Amino acid sequence: MPRKLAAGNWKMNGGPGSAAMLNALAEAHPAPDCDVLICPPAPLITTLVSLGTPFQIGAQDCHSAESGAHTGDTSAKLLKEIGASAAIVGHSERRTDHGETSATVAAKANAAMSAGLLAIICVGETEAERDGGRTLKVVGGQIAGSVPEDAEAQNLVIAYEPVWAIGTGRTPTIEQIAEVHDFIRETLIARFGDAGAEIRILYGGSVKPSNVEEIFAVPNVDGGLVGGASLKAEDFGPIVAAAST
Ligand code: 13P
Repeated sequence: MPRKLAAGNWKMNGGPGSAAMLNALAEAHPAPDCDVLICPPAPLITTLVSLGTPFQIGAQDCHSAESGAHTGDTSAKLLKEIGASAAIVGHSERRTDHGETSATVAAKANAAMSAGLLAIICVGETEAERDGGRTLKVVGGQIAGSVPEDAEAQNLVIAYEPVWAIGTGRTPTIEQIAEVHDFIRETLIARFGDAGAEIRILYGGSVKPSNVEEIFAVPNVDGGLVGGASLKAEDFGPIVAAAST
């Protein structure tokens, strides 16, 4: 079984004072028996890396090019150089807000991996797609389109985030989570062989201290990608603890 990953996606939250949150988390969990990753807004990466906590720091996005005329974007190469170890790509908020297609996401994931970052590729269905019985088809299509052709299994993480569960307090049933994670596992094994069994599959969408143990106990759930509950040490601490058991 892969080592679990507790990943926090701060989205457009946090500020210079966020160092205190990370220090508090490090004090409570100085040596977690899981990987812990915090993805703050890009301008905070250097600050959080410099704290020297036992946690990895990552980005919420990257550009597909190494450098060039792309105003406002950040390359995976630069993220690596300033100490980031991962980049989330293809989050549903970027697919919606910025019109990112699976092809864009694949190019970004490729850039992240080439730069030596872990690429966390997000997939997940909308409520209408689930109601229409198309969840596995949508997720399968997103994986086929968003995982780059020459992806390396060891630098790849898939995050299953049902769009309707993000920030809503609603979560799928345990059976629904299990069904999608089993399907993703089969898809990864079909593509990567034995290495596909080691790729971490995270669940994301309204993970919180009160539901995390149940969710992390589901087979093929190898951790979580957590939004709101990653912003405070007292909320994220129990999630790190659940990933450590
Ligand atoms: P919430 O945990 O706030 O639902 O957000 C999930 C998410 O989008 C993480 O990437």
